Amino acid sequence: MAAKEKTKNRTMSNLLVTGGAGFIGANFVHYWMKTYPQDKVVVLDALTYAGNKANLDPVAENPNFFFCHGNICDTALVEMLLKEHRIDTLVHFAAESHVDRSITGPDAFIETNIIGTHSLLKAAKKIWLDEGLNKESHRFHHVSTDEVYGTLGPEDPAFSETTPYAPNSPYSASKAASDHLVRAYHHTYGLKVTTSNCSNNYGPYHFPEKLIPLVITNILQDKPLPIYGDGQQIRDWLYVEDHARGIDLVIKNGQLGECYNIGGVNEWANIDIVKLICRLVDQAFVECPLLAERFPKAAKASEGNSAALITYVEDRAGHDRRYAIDPTRSNNELGYEPRETFDSGIAKTVNWFLNNEEWWSAVMDGSYQSWIKEQYQVTNPTLGASK
Ligand code: NAD
Ligand code: TYD
Repeated sequence: MAAKEKTKNRTMSNLLVTGGAGFIGANFVHYWMKTYPQDKVVVLDALTYAGNKANLDPVAENPNFFFCHGNICDTALVEMLLKEHRIDTLVHFAAESHVDRSITGPDAFIETNIIGTHSLLKAAKKIWLDEGLNKESHRFHHVSTDEVYGTLGPEDPAFSETTPYAPNSPYSASKAASDHLVRAYHHTYGLKVTTSNCSNNYGPYHFPEKLIPLVITNILQDKPLPIYGDGQQIRDWLYVEDHARGIDLVIKNGQLGECYNIGGVNEWANIDIVKLICRLVDQAFVECPLLAERFPKAAKASEGNSAALITYVEDRAGHDRRYAIDPTRSNNELGYEPRETFDSGIAKTVNWFLNNEEWWSAVMDGSYQSWIKEQYQVTNPTLGASK
Protein backbone atom coordinates (compact mmCIF):
# COMPACT_ATOMS: atom_id res chain seq x y z
CA MET A 1 0.00 0.00 0.00
CA ALA A 2 1.21 3.51 -0.77
CA ALA A 3 2.69 5.56 2.03
CA LYS A 4 0.73 8.65 2.95
CA GLU A 5 2.05 11.84 1.30
CA LYS A 6 4.74 13.20 3.58
CA THR A 7 4.22 16.69 4.92
CA LYS A 8 6.65 19.01 6.60
CA ASN A 9 6.10 22.35 8.28
CA ARG A 10 7.25 25.02 5.90
CA THR A 11 7.87 28.72 6.02
CA MET A 12 7.20 31.16 3.20
CA SER A 13 9.34 30.76 0.13
CA ASN A 14 10.54 32.89 -2.76
CA LEU A 15 10.68 30.79 -5.91
CA LEU A 16 12.44 31.34 -9.20
CA VAL A 17 10.79 29.15 -11.86
CA THR A 18 12.71 28.91 -15.12
CA GLY A 19 10.67 28.01 -18.21
CA GLY A 20 7.46 28.94 -16.35
CA ALA A 21 5.75 30.06 -19.56
CA GLY A 22 6.05 26.58 -21.08
CA PHE A 23 3.67 23.64 -20.74
CA ILE A 24 4.76 22.04 -17.47
CA GLY A 25 6.28 25.20 -15.98
CA ALA A 26 3.01 27.13 -16.34
CA ASN A 27 0.97 24.29 -14.85
CA PHE A 28 3.47 24.15 -11.99
CA VAL A 29 3.12 27.90 -11.36
CA HIS A 30 -0.69 27.57 -11.27
CA TYR A 31 -0.40 24.63 -8.88
CA TRP A 32 2.11 26.37 -6.62
CA MET A 33 0.26 29.66 -6.34
CA LYS A 34 -2.96 27.82 -5.53
CA THR A 35 -1.27 25.57 -2.96
CA TYR A 36 1.02 28.16 -1.34
CA PRO A 37 -0.66 31.53 -1.90
CA GLN A 38 1.72 33.27 0.51
CA ASP A 39 4.83 32.44 -1.59
CA LYS A 40 6.44 34.75 -4.12
CA VAL A 41 6.89 33.23 -7.59
CA VAL A 42 9.22 34.77 -10.15
CA VAL A 43 9.19 33.27 -13.66
CA LEU A 44 12.25 33.60 -15.89
CA ASP A 45 11.45 32.62 -19.47
CA ALA A 46 12.99 33.43 -22.85
CA LEU A 47 9.60 33.00 -24.58
CA THR A 48 10.93 30.73 -27.31
CA TYR A 49 8.42 29.25 -29.79
CA ALA A 50 7.25 26.96 -26.92
CA GLY A 51 6.89 29.71 -24.32
CA ASN A 52 3.70 31.71 -24.12
CA LYS A 53 2.94 34.46 -21.64
CA ALA A 54 -0.79 33.73 -22.03
CA ASN A 55 -0.15 30.42 -20.20
CA LEU A 56 0.37 32.56 -17.10
CA ASP A 57 -2.74 34.73 -17.51
CA PRO A 58 -4.53 33.02 -14.58
CA VAL A 59 -1.86 34.33 -12.15
CA ALA A 60 -0.76 37.49 -13.96
CA GLU A 61 -2.63 39.86 -11.62
CA ASN A 62 -1.49 38.14 -8.44
CA PRO A 63 0.75 40.58 -6.47
CA ASN A 64 3.04 37.67 -5.50
CA PHE A 65 3.75 36.88 -9.17
CA PHE A 66 6.58 38.40 -11.22
CA PHE A 67 7.60 37.72 -14.81
CA CYS A 68 11.05 38.31 -16.28
CA HIS A 69 11.59 37.88 -20.01
CA GLY A 70 15.15 36.62 -20.23
CA ASN A 71 17.50 33.76 -20.96
CA ILE A 72 18.87 31.28 -18.42
CA CYS A 73 22.25 31.55 -20.18
CA ASP A 74 22.44 35.16 -18.91
CA THR A 75 24.21 34.41 -15.64
CA ALA A 76 24.30 38.05 -14.51
CA LEU A 77 20.54 38.35 -14.95
CA VAL A 78 19.98 35.18 -12.90
CA GLU A 79 22.28 36.46 -10.14
CA MET A 80 20.35 39.73 -10.09
CA LEU A 81 17.00 37.89 -9.79
CA LEU A 82 18.29 35.64 -7.00
CA LYS A 83 19.40 38.69 -5.03
CA GLU A 84 16.61 41.13 -5.80
CA HIS A 85 13.83 38.66 -4.97
CA ARG A 86 15.78 36.91 -2.17
CA ILE A 87 15.12 33.59 -3.90
CA ASP A 88 15.53 30.47 -1.76
CA THR A 89 14.10 27.88 -4.17
CA LEU A 90 14.94 27.60 -7.87
CA VAL A 91 12.81 25.18 -9.89
CA HIS A 92 14.39 24.62 -13.28
CA PHE A 93 12.07 23.69 -16.16
CA ALA A 94 13.54 25.82 -18.98
CA ALA A 95 14.67 23.58 -21.81
CA GLU A 96 14.39 22.74 -25.43
CA SER A 97 12.05 19.80 -25.01
CA HIS A 98 11.00 18.28 -28.35
CA VAL A 99 12.91 15.16 -29.46
CA ASP A 100 12.07 15.70 -33.16
CA ARG A 101 13.52 19.22 -33.08
CA SER A 102 16.65 17.87 -31.38
CA ILE A 103 17.14 15.57 -34.36
CA THR A 104 16.90 18.34 -36.96
CA GLY A 105 18.63 21.05 -34.88
CA PRO A 106 20.58 19.85 -31.85
CA ASP A 107 22.57 23.08 -31.20
CA ALA A 108 19.79 24.86 -29.30
CA PHE A 109 19.54 21.82 -27.02
CA ILE A 110 23.23 21.99 -26.13
CA GLU A 111 22.97 25.74 -25.56
CA THR A 112 19.88 25.82 -23.32
CA ASN A 113 19.86 22.40 -21.70
CA ILE A 114 23.58 22.13 -20.93
CA ILE A 115 25.11 25.63 -21.02
CA GLY A 116 21.91 27.18 -19.65
CA THR A 117 21.69 24.74 -16.73
CA HIS A 118 25.35 25.38 -15.97
CA SER A 119 24.73 29.12 -16.04
CA LEU A 120 21.99 28.68 -13.40
CA LEU A 121 24.23 26.48 -11.26
CA LYS A 122 27.04 29.04 -11.39
CA ALA A 123 24.69 31.87 -10.40
CA ALA A 124 23.15 29.81 -7.58
CA LYS A 125 26.57 28.83 -6.24
CA LYS A 126 27.77 32.44 -6.31
CA ILE A 127 24.75 33.97 -4.58
CA TRP A 128 23.80 31.17 -2.19
CA LEU A 129 27.18 29.71 -1.28
CA ASP A 130 29.88 32.30 -2.02
CA GLU A 131 27.89 35.38 -1.00
CA GLY A 132 25.90 33.48 1.62
CA LEU A 133 22.35 34.68 0.85
CA ASN A 134 20.07 31.81 2.02
CA LYS A 135 23.21 29.73 2.54
CA GLU A 136 21.47 27.18 4.78
CA SER A 137 17.98 27.19 3.35
CA HIS A 138 18.30 27.16 -0.44
CA ARG A 139 17.21 24.51 -2.94
CA PHE A 140 17.99 24.00 -6.61
CA HIS A 141 15.42 21.60 -8.04
CA HIS A 142 16.19 20.29 -11.52
CA VAL A 143 13.34 18.96 -13.66
CA SER A 144 14.51 16.12 -15.87
CA THR A 145 13.12 13.26 -17.88
CA ASP A 146 12.96 9.47 -17.91
CA GLU A 147 14.43 9.62 -21.43
CA VAL A 148 17.95 9.86 -19.92
CA TYR A 149 17.71 6.11 -19.19
CA GLY A 150 17.33 5.19 -22.86
CA THR A 151 14.94 2.56 -24.12
CA LEU A 152 13.35 -0.62 -22.74
CA GLY A 153 12.38 -3.93 -24.30
CA PRO A 154 8.85 -5.26 -23.70
CA GLU A 155 9.87 -7.42 -20.75
CA ASP A 156 12.55 -5.17 -19.20
CA PRO A 157 11.98 -3.87 -15.69
CA ALA A 158 10.92 -0.21 -15.53
CA PHE A 159 13.49 2.57 -14.99
CA SER A 160 14.55 2.99 -11.39
CA GLU A 161 16.86 5.68 -9.97
CA THR A 162 19.78 3.26 -10.29
CA THR A 163 19.21 2.40 -13.96
CA PRO A 164 22.38 3.46 -15.83
CA TYR A 165 22.02 6.50 -18.06
CA ALA A 166 21.89 5.61 -21.79
CA PRO A 167 20.38 8.60 -23.64
CA ASN A 168 19.67 8.04 -27.34
CA SER A 169 18.54 11.40 -28.76
CA PRO A 170 20.30 14.76 -28.70
CA TYR A 171 17.44 15.90 -26.41
CA SER A 172 17.92 13.13 -23.86
CA ALA A 173 21.72 13.39 -24.09
CA SER A 174 21.55 17.11 -23.31
CA LYS A 175 19.20 16.45 -20.36
CA ALA A 176 21.53 13.69 -19.10
CA ALA A 177 24.47 16.11 -19.26
CA SER A 178 22.50 18.68 -17.26
CA ASP A 179 21.57 16.04 -14.64
CA HIS A 180 25.27 15.23 -14.20
CA LEU A 181 26.18 18.91 -13.79
CA VAL A 182 23.50 19.34 -11.12
CA ARG A 183 24.83 16.28 -9.28
CA ALA A 184 28.40 17.54 -9.55
CA TYR A 185 27.53 20.95 -8.04
CA HIS A 186 26.14 19.12 -5.02
CA HIS A 187 29.07 16.78 -4.55
CA THR A 188 31.78 19.32 -5.29
CA TYR A 189 30.42 22.55 -3.83
CA GLY A 190 27.65 21.45 -1.50
CA LEU A 191 24.84 23.14 -3.44
CA LYS A 192 21.53 21.80 -2.09
CA VAL A 193 20.05 20.09 -5.14
CA THR A 194 17.36 17.56 -5.99
CA THR A 195 16.38 16.14 -9.39
CA SER A 196 13.16 14.55 -10.63
CA ASN A 197 13.05 12.36 -13.74
CA CYS A 198 9.51 12.27 -15.03
CA SER A 199 7.67 10.34 -17.72
CA ASN A 200 5.60 11.89 -20.55
CA ASN A 201 3.19 14.58 -19.35
CA TYR A 202 -0.14 15.59 -20.87
CA GLY A 203 -2.79 18.18 -19.99
CA PRO A 204 -3.78 21.83 -20.54
CA TYR A 205 -1.36 24.20 -22.36
CA HIS A 206 0.48 21.27 -23.99
CA PHE A 207 2.21 22.66 -27.07
CA PRO A 208 0.62 21.07 -30.17
CA GLU A 209 3.85 19.68 -31.64
CA LYS A 210 3.74 16.81 -29.10
CA LEU A 211 1.69 13.68 -29.78
CA ILE A 212 -1.46 14.19 -27.67
CA PRO A 213 -2.22 17.87 -28.43
CA LEU A 214 -1.16 17.39 -32.07
CA VAL A 215 -3.69 14.62 -32.50
CA ILE A 216 -6.54 16.51 -30.81
CA THR A 217 -5.96 19.72 -32.78
CA ASN A 218 -5.43 17.87 -36.07
CA ILE A 219 -8.76 16.07 -35.66
CA LEU A 220 -10.44 19.44 -35.14
CA GLN A 221 -8.84 20.70 -38.35
CA ASP A 222 -9.45 17.47 -40.31
CA LYS A 223 -5.73 16.91 -40.80
CA PRO A 224 -3.91 13.56 -40.89
CA LEU A 225 -2.82 12.03 -37.57
CA PRO A 226 0.83 11.04 -38.11
CA ILE A 227 1.91 7.78 -36.47
CA TYR A 228 5.64 7.16 -36.55
CA GLY A 229 6.70 3.65 -37.61
CA ASP A 230 4.37 0.89 -36.42
CA GLY A 231 2.83 2.98 -33.60
CA GLN A 232 3.72 0.33 -31.03
CA GLN A 233 6.16 2.52 -29.09
CA ILE A 234 5.18 2.76 -25.44
CA ARG A 235 5.15 5.81 -23.16
CA ASP A 236 4.09 6.13 -19.51
CA TRP A 237 1.68 9.10 -19.42
CA LEU A 238 1.20 11.35 -16.40
CA TYR A 239 -1.30 14.19 -15.94
CA VAL A 240 0.71 17.39 -15.64
CA GLU A 241 -0.71 18.47 -12.26
CA ASP A 242 0.44 15.16 -10.79
CA HIS A 243 3.95 16.03 -11.98
CA ALA A 244 3.71 19.42 -10.24
CA ARG A 245 2.66 17.72 -7.00
CA GLY A 246 5.52 15.23 -7.33
CA ILE A 247 8.04 18.06 -7.66
CA ASP A 248 6.51 19.73 -4.62
CA LEU A 249 7.02 16.53 -2.61
CA VAL A 250 10.62 16.16 -3.77
CA ILE A 251 11.37 19.77 -2.81
CA LYS A 252 9.76 19.26 0.62
CA ASN A 253 10.98 15.79 1.48
CA GLY A 254 13.55 14.60 -1.04
CA GLN A 255 17.09 13.87 0.10
CA LEU A 256 19.68 16.37 -1.04
CA GLY A 257 21.77 15.27 -4.02
CA GLU A 258 19.26 12.55 -4.94
CA CYS A 259 17.04 11.83 -7.96
CA TYR A 260 13.40 10.75 -7.85
CA ASN A 261 11.53 9.07 -10.70
CA ILE A 262 7.96 10.29 -11.15
CA GLY A 263 5.61 8.34 -13.40
CA GLY A 264 2.01 7.52 -14.07
CA VAL A 265 2.16 3.69 -13.94
CA ASN A 266 0.23 4.14 -17.16
CA GLU A 267 1.90 2.57 -20.19
CA TRP A 268 0.22 3.01 -23.56
CA ALA A 269 1.24 2.22 -27.14
CA ASN A 270 1.04 5.36 -29.29
CA ILE A 271 -1.52 3.93 -31.70
CA ASP A 272 -3.85 3.00 -28.83
CA ILE A 273 -3.64 6.52 -27.38
CA VAL A 274 -4.44 8.01 -30.77
CA LYS A 275 -7.44 5.69 -31.26
CA LEU A 276 -8.67 6.55 -27.76
CA ILE A 277 -8.46 10.28 -28.49
CA CYS A 278 -10.37 9.73 -31.77
CA ARG A 279 -13.15 7.99 -29.83
CA LEU A 280 -13.30 10.74 -27.19
CA VAL A 281 -13.50 13.55 -29.73
CA ASP A 282 -16.11 11.69 -31.80
CA GLN A 283 -18.16 11.09 -28.65
CA ALA A 284 -17.94 14.80 -27.73
CA PHE A 285 -19.34 15.69 -31.18
CA VAL A 286 -22.27 13.31 -30.65
CA GLU A 287 -23.00 14.68 -27.17
CA CYS A 288 -22.67 18.33 -28.18
CA PRO A 289 -23.96 19.01 -31.72
CA LEU A 290 -22.81 22.65 -31.39
CA LEU A 291 -19.22 21.43 -31.78
CA ALA A 292 -19.85 20.79 -35.47
CA GLU A 293 -20.64 24.50 -35.86
CA ARG A 294 -17.65 25.60 -33.77
CA PHE A 295 -15.27 23.33 -35.69
CA PRO A 296 -16.67 23.30 -39.24
CA LYS A 297 -13.46 21.74 -40.59
CA ALA A 298 -13.78 18.68 -38.34
CA ALA A 299 -15.59 16.64 -40.97
CA LYS A 300 -14.40 13.23 -39.78
CA ALA A 301 -15.26 13.97 -36.14
CA SER A 302 -18.76 15.05 -37.21
CA GLU A 303 -19.15 11.72 -39.00
CA GLY A 304 -17.88 9.90 -35.87
CA ASN A 305 -14.91 8.66 -37.86
CA SER A 306 -11.81 10.59 -36.72
CA ALA A 307 -9.77 7.38 -36.82
CA ALA A 308 -9.91 7.56 -40.62
CA LEU A 309 -7.35 10.39 -40.30
CA ILE A 310 -4.71 8.02 -38.87
CA THR A 311 -1.72 8.00 -41.22
CA TYR A 312 1.40 5.90 -40.73
CA VAL A 313 4.56 7.82 -41.59
CA GLU A 314 8.28 7.13 -41.56
CA ASP A 315 9.66 6.37 -38.11
CA ARG A 316 11.60 8.88 -36.00
CA ALA A 317 15.38 8.35 -36.25
CA GLY A 318 16.66 6.44 -33.20
CA HIS A 319 13.11 6.15 -31.84
CA ASP A 320 13.08 4.79 -28.27
CA ARG A 321 10.73 1.82 -28.08
CA ARG A 322 9.47 1.90 -24.52
CA TYR A 323 9.68 4.06 -21.40
CA ALA A 324 8.33 2.97 -18.01
CA ILE A 325 8.93 4.29 -14.50
CA ASP A 326 9.42 2.23 -11.38
CA PRO A 327 7.71 4.43 -8.77
CA THR A 328 9.00 2.56 -5.70
CA ARG A 329 11.34 5.22 -4.39
CA SER A 330 9.02 8.23 -4.76
CA ASN A 331 6.23 6.10 -3.34
CA ASN A 332 8.18 4.87 -0.30
CA GLU A 333 10.15 8.01 0.53
CA LEU A 334 7.68 10.74 -0.45
CA GLY A 335 4.34 8.95 -0.33
CA TYR A 336 3.88 9.99 -3.98
CA GLU A 337 1.14 8.52 -6.14
CA PRO A 338 -0.60 10.05 -9.15
CA ARG A 339 -4.13 11.20 -8.29
CA GLU A 340 -5.58 11.56 -11.77
CA THR A 341 -6.64 8.36 -13.52
CA PHE A 342 -5.88 8.22 -17.23
CA ASP A 343 -9.62 8.12 -18.01
CA SER A 344 -10.27 11.34 -16.14
CA GLY A 345 -7.03 13.06 -17.20
CA ILE A 346 -7.39 12.42 -20.92
CA ALA A 347 -11.08 13.42 -20.85
CA LYS A 348 -10.16 16.70 -19.10
CA THR A 349 -7.42 17.29 -21.65
CA VAL A 350 -9.65 16.69 -24.69
CA ASN A 351 -12.23 19.03 -23.13
CA TRP A 352 -9.61 21.68 -22.47
CA PHE A 353 -8.59 21.70 -26.15
CA LEU A 354 -12.24 21.74 -27.26
CA ASN A 355 -12.80 24.80 -25.05
CA ASN A 356 -9.56 26.65 -25.77
CA GLU A 357 -9.40 26.95 -29.54
CA GLU A 358 -8.29 30.56 -29.17
CA TRP A 359 -5.19 29.42 -27.24
CA TRP A 360 -4.11 26.71 -29.67
CA SER A 361 -4.91 28.70 -32.83
CA ALA A 362 -2.75 31.54 -31.49
CA VAL A 363 0.27 29.29 -30.86
CA MET A 364 0.02 27.80 -34.35
CA ASP A 365 1.78 30.84 -35.77
CA GLY A 366 4.12 31.11 -38.76
CA SER A 367 7.01 29.36 -37.00
CA TYR A 368 4.71 26.49 -35.96
CA GLN A 369 3.44 26.11 -39.55
CA SER A 370 7.01 26.05 -40.86
CA TRP A 371 7.96 23.38 -38.31
CA ILE A 372 4.99 21.16 -39.23
CA LYS A 373 5.73 21.58 -42.91
CA GLU A 374 9.42 20.79 -42.51
CA GLN A 375 8.86 17.87 -40.12
CA TYR A 376 6.05 16.06 -41.91
CA GLN A 377 6.43 16.79 -45.60
CA VAL A 378 9.56 14.63 -45.63
CA THR A 379 7.61 11.56 -44.71
CA ASN A 380 4.19 12.40 -46.10
CA PRO A 381 3.61 15.46 -48.27
CA THR A 382 -0.11 15.72 -47.36
CA LEU A 383 0.72 16.27 -43.68
CA GLY A 384 2.66 19.46 -44.30
CA ALA A 385 0.08 20.90 -46.66
CA SER A 386 -2.65 23.10 -45.25
CA LYS A 387 -6.15 21.96 -46.12
P1 NAD B 1 8.21 23.36 -23.16
O1 NAD B 1 9.04 23.22 -24.38
O2 NAD B 1 6.73 23.37 -23.26
O3 NAD B 1 8.62 24.70 -22.37
C1 NAD B 1 9.95 25.11 -22.21
C2 NAD B 1 9.95 26.54 -21.69
O4 NAD B 1 11.31 26.93 -21.48
C3 NAD B 1 9.32 27.55 -22.66
O5 NAD B 1 8.51 28.45 -21.97
C4 NAD B 1 10.53 28.27 -23.23
O6 NAD B 1 10.26 29.60 -23.64
C5 NAD B 1 11.50 28.21 -22.06
N1 NAD B 1 12.90 28.31 -22.48
C6 NAD B 1 13.53 27.59 -23.46
N2 NAD B 1 14.81 27.98 -23.56
C7 NAD B 1 15.01 28.93 -22.62
C8 NAD B 1 16.13 29.68 -22.21
N3 NAD B 1 17.33 29.53 -22.82
N4 NAD B 1 16.00 30.57 -21.21
C9 NAD B 1 14.79 30.72 -20.59
N5 NAD B 1 13.69 30.04 -20.94
C10 NAD B 1 13.80 29.15 -21.94
O7 NAD B 1 8.71 22.20 -22.19
P2 NAD B 1 7.88 21.32 -21.15
O8 NAD B 1 7.25 20.18 -21.86
O9 NAD B 1 7.06 22.22 -20.32
O10 NAD B 1 9.09 20.72 -20.27
C11 NAD B 1 9.57 21.43 -19.13
C12 NAD B 1 10.71 20.64 -18.52
O11 NAD B 1 10.25 19.35 -18.13
C13 NAD B 1 11.89 20.41 -19.46
O12 NAD B 1 13.08 20.55 -18.72
C14 NAD B 1 11.70 18.98 -19.93
O13 NAD B 1 12.95 18.39 -20.24
C15 NAD B 1 11.09 18.35 -18.70
N6 NAD B 1 10.21 17.18 -18.95
C16 NAD B 1 9.21 17.27 -19.88
C17 NAD B 1 8.36 16.18 -20.07
C18 NAD B 1 7.19 16.25 -21.03
O14 NAD B 1 6.47 15.26 -21.20
N7 NAD B 1 6.92 17.39 -21.67
C19 NAD B 1 8.55 15.01 -19.33
C20 NAD B 1 9.60 14.96 -18.40
C21 NAD B 1 10.43 16.05 -18.22
P1 TYD C 1 6.29 13.12 -28.08
O1 TYD C 1 4.97 13.69 -27.67
O2 TYD C 1 7.12 13.89 -29.07
O3 TYD C 1 7.10 12.80 -26.77
P2 TYD C 1 8.50 11.95 -26.58
O4 TYD C 1 9.15 11.80 -27.88
O5 TYD C 1 9.28 12.86 -25.67
O6 TYD C 1 8.10 10.68 -25.94
O7 TYD C 1 6.02 11.69 -28.71
C1 TYD C 1 5.36 10.68 -27.98
C2 TYD C 1 5.38 9.44 -28.82
O8 TYD C 1 4.57 9.66 -29.99
C3 TYD C 1 6.76 9.08 -29.35
O9 TYD C 1 6.90 7.67 -29.36
C4 TYD C 1 6.77 9.61 -30.77
C5 TYD C 1 5.32 9.46 -31.20
N1 TYD C 1 4.83 10.47 -32.17
C6 TYD C 1 4.17 10.04 -33.32
O10 TYD C 1 3.97 8.83 -33.55
N2 TYD C 1 3.74 11.00 -34.19
C7 TYD C 1 3.95 12.33 -34.01
O11 TYD C 1 3.55 13.16 -34.88
C8 TYD C 1 4.62 12.75 -32.81
C9 TYD C 1 4.86 14.21 -32.54
C10 TYD C 1 5.04 11.78 -31.91
